[in-house]
Amino acid sequence: MAGEEIRALDKKYNLHSWSAQKTFNPIVVDRAEGIYFWDADGKKYYDMSAQLVNMNVGHGNKKIIKAIQDQAGKMPFMGPAYAVDVRSELARKVIEEIVPFMGKIFFTNAGAEANENAIKMARMVTGKNKIFSGYRSYHGATYGAANLTGEPRRFPSEPGIAGFIKFFNPYIEREPVIKFESEEQYAQYCLAKLEEQIIWEGQDDVAAIFLETVVGSNGCLIPPKGYLEGVRAICDKYGIMMVCDEVMAGWGRTGEWFAFMNWDIKPDMITFAKGITCGYSPIGGVIVSKAIAEHFEENVLFCGLTYSAHLIGCAAGIATIDVYKEENLINHSKEMGKVLRAEMDKLMKNHPSVGPCRNIGLFGMVEFVDKNGGPIVPYAKDPKGIMKQIIGKLREYGFTTYSHENMISVSPPLIITEQELKEAFEILDKVATWVDGNLL
Ligand SMILES: Cc1ncc(COP(=O)(O)O)c(C=O)c1O
Repeated sequence: MAGEEIRALDKKYNLHSWSAQKTFNPIVVDRAEGIYFWDADGKKYYDMSAQLVNMNVGHGNKKIIKAIQDQAGKMPFMGPAYAVDVRSELARKVIEEIVPFMGKIFFTNAGAEANENAIKMARMVTGKNKIFSGYRSYHGATYGAANLTGEPRRFPSEPGIAGFIKFFNPYIEREPVIKFESEEQYAQYCLAKLEEQIIWEGQDDVAAIFLETVVGSNGCLIPPKGYLEGVRAICDKYGIMMVCDEVMAGWGRTGEWFAFMNWDIKPDMITFAKGITCGYSPIGGVIVSKAIAEHFEENVLFCGLTYSAHLIGCAAGIATIDVYKEENLINHSKEMGKVLRAEMDKLMKNHPSVGPCRNIGLFGMVEFVDKNGGPIVPYAKDPKGIMKQIIGKLREYGFTTYSHENMISVSPPLIITEQELKEAFEILDKVATWVDGNLL
């Protein structure tokens, strides 16, 4: 099929996420390899968001493809009530090799479902009702996960589910009133407000606090020093489950297997998806603590999915974890994070339109600002389509990513080399020059 025909059929029959369909104009992709993909006309693109921050091992990994082919040939499906080698092995591998202090895993198909099931488990285990989550968060698009989500993608799922409470999670660059002397002081302020809110909501009826360990699509917001430890302490004080959503931040993205490992905390539950199979096959899940696993020894786990722990996903997950280890990608992410930092610092210094740039490992976000240093489009309201123009310009030069509010994600596959990262930043530099001259 020729490129134009593919695009025409796509536009005629497919509905695309988060877009008014009329002006949506997808790139027709022909092939993909490593950190690149090529369109139907042979144009090459740097995949600088690793698709949806999920293709950590890059495109075209032969080992994972082979594992999927072998499993499809042997037995693609067996219902979730049966024990099968790949199902046992993936769970063992995650628990024993990555989070030995946790207990068991309930596998889902993706991230939203992981959060849905974590909400239910928190309520089942604690017997409490309320669920706290941050305004600056995205936890998925299904009904429960969308209610957990704080940002505007929540609105079409409202009126919300009773008992879902939002709090302001830390974002020091946008703190409008108080100037804090240190990160630690800001963390203590946020923690005091959170605890106060918990008390006003009835501290005995809070089942869980959900947080993206590092907030992803809402800005790569890295928790200030002491914040996560403080949330852990609040959870312990009131018997609340601490749930770290690691759907985007997990699997090496921040330079650790899971983002929470950058701090001295252990969550009660970890929700994950994306990087466990890097898109080669969909799978997600909830990792629960030993205490929660123990609870469900005697109490029924009222959770179920036809495709829970799908065998092709399990085979892909095992191979993907092997790839992370064999290619030393977790450490590579940390090392390349230093290069990313240096490139971001240069960009900030050289361009008035570039504001705060944050990164942890290869998880990064670049903010565009106006002449006064405020967000170039505040609160995702962009009537002039400024961010669309920036994304379009980047695309023209062969750099693909997505935007949110006034920011663009810079979170390439973890296999990126120093040379490739610098080349991609040459494009970003050119586009920032264009923004300085045309959009400020
Ligand atoms: C932090 C976080 N949680 C949950 C989700 C939802 O995952 P999925 O799209 O696989 O349902 C996402 C998706 O981007 C995410 O970034």
